[in-house]
Amino acid sequence: MLTPDTMFERYGGLAFVTRFVLSFYDRVLASVRLAPFFANSDMQRLVEHQAKFISSVMGGPTSYSNAVLREVHEHLGIDDQAFDEMIFLFEAALKDFKITDTDAEAIIADLNARRMYIVNGRSTKM
Ligand code: HEM
Repeated sequence: MLTPDTMFERYGGLAFVTRFVLSFYDRVLASVRLAPFFANSDMQRLVEHQAKFISSVMGGPTSYSNAVLREVHEHLGIDDQAFDEMIFLFEAALKDFKITDTDAEAIIADLNARRMYIVNGRSTKM
């Protein structure tokens, strides 16, 4: 498990998350595989998605239960390839933002542990 509060605070809280979100957001929209998932989202919602996503995995103020994650994603038809690409882009952004290897590994492990709630057809367990 992460020691989330520490990590969120350690990297500069909301100011850090905001900068990180903008960078991650650019990467997601530049992805041919990921951009279509957000075609019906307005930009505001997408930025919110990324901010909540990141705060949640870094243990920031917005944390989502796995049940809620499943609820908001199940109709989206997200497949393993899309999930993998999201993880890949996230990992690249973590490197660029100089997150230590240990913290990056913890974040990626946490994200991967949520795969079954995000990817369609794999969400039968809680
Ligand atoms: C562990 C990984 C992920 C987390 C923690 C996460 C987090 C979230 C959260 C918290 C919401 C709800 C936003 C709200 O309050 O309405 C959401 C919505 C959404 N997520 Fe994710 N997400 C993840 C992975 C993905 C992936 C891989 C995709 C697409 C490939 C995706 C696409 C979306 C879309 C399209 C929405 C709806 C946005 C909208 O309402 O316009 N998410 N996500």
